[in-house]
Amino acid sequence: MISNGSVFEDDHLPDPIVGRNSHMNEVTDALAPIEDGQRAENCFLFGPSGAGKTTVARAAVRELRREVLDVPYAYVNCWRDYTRNAVLERLSHDLVGTAVPRSASTSTLLDRVHRDFNGPGVVILDEVDQLRETELLYDLHEFRGLSWIGIANDEVDLLADLDERVRSRVSVGYRVTFDRYGEDTIAEIVRLRARAGLGPGAVSQEVCETIARLADGDARMGITTLRAAARKASSEGLSNIPKRLVKDSISEAEREIARKTYSKLTDHQRVVVDVLQEDGPLIQRELHERYSERHDDPVSLRYFRDAHLAKLEHYELVETESRSGKKLYSLAEPANIGRVAQP
Ligand SMILES: Nc1ncnc2c1ncn2[C@@H]1O[C@H](COP(=O)(O)OP(=O)(O)O)[C@@H](O)[C@H]1O
Ligand SMILES: [Mg+2]
Repeated sequence: MISNGSVFEDDHLPDPIVGRNSHMNEVTDALAPIEDGQRAENCFLFGPSGAGKTTVARAAVRELRREVLDVPYAYVNCWRDYTRNAVLERLSHDLVGTAVPRSASTSTLLDRVHRDFNGPGVVILDEVDQLRETELLYDLHEFRGLSWIGIANDEVDLLADLDERVRSRVSVGYRVTFDRYGEDTIAEIVRLRARAGLGPGAVSQEVCETIARLADGDARMGITTLRAAARKASSEGLSNIPKRLVKDSISEAEREIARKTYSKLTDHQRVVVDVLQEDGPLIQRELHERYSERHDDPVSLRYFRDAHLAKLEHYELVETESRSGKKLYSLAEPANIGRVAQP
């Protein structure tokens, strides 16, 4: 039944983008100065997962590159590349096409981009709340004509840790809030994805709506469920998805998403999952203590809470409950399964 599996992959950029016109307009407005050879305004997109943030950022850059051919562009996922050097390595690779390893000194990496980069250009900093060394944002400011689109789950103050002297020079011109999708939009996203990736007549409107209702405003959940349902239907020899398969497919999708999220965790976050797997539930201080015993280079309690625990909770790998006035952290159900499936 699956005729084109690539449309279900994370890096597939759909066309059209459904129901996000005003968000698209804000980001394309921010980037508009690039069409005149100028530096664009930085923007910051935030909202829950599966709300289309990465898609809108990439689609806005896709539009820009239709207008301004070959404008230098880089995509960095700060969850994976969270140090200053790691980001600079990507920039030297993607913006100026030279491979300088991240083990090179910061100044070598900076010099290379300064020497070879001709602005304007744009960088997407996805999951920018995971960036450890935010002085990188000042480095970007120093590259002539470079602007960025930062993406995070919450409206964090990205510039909070920057030195006073440089803080005032880095500005965020546009802030764009993403809410969860409504059911109708998810149903439409699912319907179009089915049309692109499954055989004709594979889903009814009713199935799209059922998936949308259960996906709870999360387009990633909707699309992953659609694929899981298509696989189940195929294995039963069917050429369309019956409604009865949707419910199990949601649970399947939750596990699949948890597994994928687990595979993206930093070594700090993995230690947290391991500790909770073995000793949870725990209160925050205990959790931080056990983590610190196990990690060679543990972060402070504050950073641990704001960057790591917040991220794990956000992606629903970790959950909290209150018991006699104490907030206890434990592993969420799909994460347990994900952990077992991927030791
Ligand atoms: N407006 C949209 N139209 C079509 N597909 C979308 C839309 N928004 C999200 N998607 C799809 O949903 C999935 C998750 O979207 P993504 O942009 O990665 O969400 P976020 O970055 O907010 O977590 C992707 O597969 C993406 O293609
Ligand atoms: Mg994203």
